[in-house]
Amino acid sequence: MLKIAVCVSGGGTNLQAIMDAIDNGTITNTEIAVVISNNPGAYALERAKKHGVEAICISPKDYGSRAAFNEDFLRRLDSYEVDLVVLAGFLVVIPEQMIEKYRNRIINIHPSLIPSFCGTGYYGLKVHEAALARGVRVTGATVHFVDEGTDTGPIILQKAVEVQEDDTPEVLQRRVMEQAEWKILPHAIDLIANGRVSVNDGRVTIAAR
Ligand code: GAR
Repeated sequence: MLKIAVCVSGGGTNLQAIMDAIDNGTITNTEIAVVISNNPGAYALERAKKHGVEAICISPKDYGSRAAFNEDFLRRLDSYEVDLVVLAGFLVVIPEQMIEKYRNRIINIHPSLIPSFCGTGYYGLKVHEAALARGVRVTGATVHFVDEGTDTGPIILQKAVEVQEDDTPEVLQRRVMEQAEWKILPHAIDLIANGRVSVNDGRVTIAAR
């Protein structure tokens, strides 16, 4: 059984997609040990509680220094002994110590087709604003392993989504979530839970069933 932690900062629709996929069998061999939010007001925390999943809040604002937060974040994550950390709209930079310790065991969902519209400053609605400003006809979402860079780790899954003529950032964000994020994030977890994902020389291989 793959034990996972899901880290969130906001609405938690990706968390919801994961919980629903576990319930309906789209994700197998997986249990959520804890949901971790940096934001006490995140609706994601409510979603976790409604689902009977343990949820905690740990915010950098409550610590005297970033180093103190990083240390406690790692200590609290370690206490759940998870196999995989899923960043589902988590807006805190992952401490290097954690990346090192959980090498190829942290995955992130990003709302574009990496390497487009990613890196520092590209998160949430900003990604879709940039895609519309550039006039791309196709965008999408990416699930990748987390390394020391921002959105630079090995790519696991991607799914393309068409941009429509009259899209606003909000409308495009919703379409990317519905058509891509809520599908590929649960799918990636299921692939990992069933031992089908390996990383070699920075590239992911997905084994056939
Ligand atoms: C999602 O669109 C996710 O891809 C994005 O934040 C949103 C969270 O929504 N993540 C990033 O931009 C990370 N760089 P949710 O809280 O409803 O799942």
